[in-house]
Amino acid sequence: MYIGVDYYPEHWTRERWGTDARLMQEAGFNVVRLSEFAWSFMEPEEGRFDFSLFDEALAVLASRGISAIMGTPTAVMPAWVARKYPETLAMKTDGTRKVWGVRKNNCFTSGAYRLLSERITRAMAEHFAQAPNVIGWQTDNEFGAQVCNCPTCRADFHDWLRAKYRSLEVLNSAWGTHFWGHLYSEWAEIPLPDDMSSHNPGLCLDWMRYNSWLNVRFQHDQVAILRALCPGQFVTHNTMSFHLPLNYYDLCEELDFASWDNYPVWGPPEVLYNSAAGGDLVRGFKGKNFWIMEQTAGPGGWSTFGRNPRPGEIRLVSYQQVAHGCDGLLWFRWRSCTAGREQYWHGLLGHDGKALRRYREAAQTAQELQRLAPELDGTTVQAEVAILYDYDSIWAENIQPSFPGNQLFQQALSRFYDPLFRAGVNVDIIPASADFSKYALLIAPELYVLPDALAQRLDAYVRAGGVLITDVRTGVKTETNLCHERTLPGLLADALGITIEEYEALSGTVDGKPFVYQVNGRQIIDGAFTATGYVDWVTPQGAEVLAGYSFPWHLADFAAATRHHYGQGWGYYVGTVVAEAAFYDALLHDALTTAGVTSLVAPPPGVEVSLRCGNGKRLLFVLNQTEEPQTVTVPAGYQELLSGTTTTETITLERSGVAVIKLA
Ligand code: GAL
Ligand code: ZN
Repeated sequence: MYIGVDYYPEHWTRERWGTDARLMQEAGFNVVRLSEFAWSFMEPEEGRFDFSLFDEALAVLASRGISAIMGTPTAVMPAWVARKYPETLAMKTDGTRKVWGVRKNNCFTSGAYRLLSERITRAMAEHFAQAPNVIGWQTDNEFGAQVCNCPTCRADFHDWLRAKYRSLEVLNSAWGTHFWGHLYSEWAEIPLPDDMSSHNPGLCLDWMRYNSWLNVRFQHDQVAILRALCPGQFVTHNTMSFHLPLNYYDLCEELDFASWDNYPVWGPPEVLYNSAAGGDLVRGFKGKNFWIMEQTAGPGGWSTFGRNPRPGEIRLVSYQQVAHGCDGLLWFRWRSCTAGREQYWHGLLGHDGKALRRYREAAQTAQELQRLAPELDGTTVQAEVAILYDYDSIWAENIQPSFPGNQLFQQALSRFYDPLFRAGVNVDIIPASADFSKYALLIAPELYVLPDALAQRLDAYVRAGGVLITDVRTGVKTETNLCHERTLPGLLADALGITIEEYEALSGTVDGKPFVYQVNGRQIIDGAFTATGYVDWVTPQGAEVLAGYSFPWHLADFAAATRHHYGQGWGYYVGTVVAEAAFYDALLHDALTTAGVTSLVAPPPGVEVSLRCGNGKRLLFVLNQTEEPQTVTVPAGYQELLSGTTTTETITLERSGVAVIKLA
């Protein structure tokens, strides 16, 4: 297993490198990531390459048995690039260029930038292909689909649209440009939307698709070179999990595996739902295990900074990712830097370079994980439950959130993900193109863009015995962001057994409190709950009512939540956003029972369980994310791999404690 740190030898004197490498080796680290911001060191002037700094660093690292991942350095252009080729800097909506400095400020269609990117990538690939301890590559750094408004991007967008729609007649009808008389008669007339909240929704959605595709194309140019010249080395990219503007399924398609950067320790200590979901999402980018390319090592921040990981947390967040399918892990960064904007983004070592508490905890984690590695080998998470994560829906809802505060799909996902976490059930997060049939329960929160073919696949999934849950704003849009000419939920009406003729958003406040309605649960969702944000006026057409409204009177005849037996399966619908987590816990409990999904362990609050299986092995991870010891009922008579003890009926985990139980 590869475990290590993001290392910046260019920040330190050569005299220090030997100490760094020795401390890394003593910690049990065997990999570093290098060079992703070092373009100006490697190409100090155009066309003159100098890799001596990294050759020397690689040799020092090799002497300690440490391998390296090289980063292509295109996230920061050298100053000379901006000076010689000003058009490589991205253009803002006001027509001025970004100021050089910081990073990630380039235009992705600039011919000069693409050429320079290919040239440094090729030079690095040629140089490091044979380096004995270079094992792989990271493309760029955290691609983000940043937007550029320059004339080249505009012309390129037009080309992209022409390739997609072939004729303006098709485009005009796809976007519905009859509205406000926005008919186009020349491709060049199509603007770059400078305000996503007021331009045509079809134009806005394609602009997002285009900008995502641009990053994929830019990366492709680098990957093609790396594949040709470095066949023995892997290629990955450090994604930002839920970062919204970039379609990571597309970006990861030609990579060997996906990676991500995980910085969960920021606010007060809390249950790590989001980083659990982040790991599941990134595993879904390629449907396989992933790496953490950057992981919390200390307080983080650029000007002010956050809290310090408490004793046990550096280890805990690492095990959490391993429990979700992480197979390689690097802490960001090795040592807190004394210069530059990230002086306060602390590493395992402080500014003083001493190997102290955070270093020792990472070292303990690395050594434990190395001992665990043979057991982990060939295992992954095998979930029976999946949540759909669909960029078209996410982007279209980001453009028109429907109700205030609904810009972040992650919130919709959490409504369903967190109860599954609490129930101790593993989850896959999957694209709409995935095969649904292997899942007993499929959850599609806010599936806003619903092409007919997808609706038909979901219908078939339920008919064949699947259990589907969906909720508000599902089925509203076509793939070109027009509203369907159908009563909601459109083609899902049969599977869900409901119709929705009207709906409303709840915005504003009453006496200083949010404007809400009241939900009363029946049967399995017993209790009184609060409807926030949005309400569908759901009329059951054969579906059972699981919850209705007790206030106001005009909703008395409508359902807040339903379930419907359809074919061999079940369709659940929730027509509002309920404030209380208990509502979703009860709903999920019922849906899991209906789907026949059980969990091995019923964890106490704040304890996470996850199962990795494969090659005949079954490893149960139990993670205490509370600040108190927790006692958990677990299968008895199995080996707990970290302590070497045999489990009895219960185990007690210290605060931030971890257990890995070998069930087979
Ligand atoms: C990441 C980035 C790193 C570093 C870190 C802390 O997003 O990839 O290069 O900037 O954040 O700011
Ligand atoms: Zn541009």
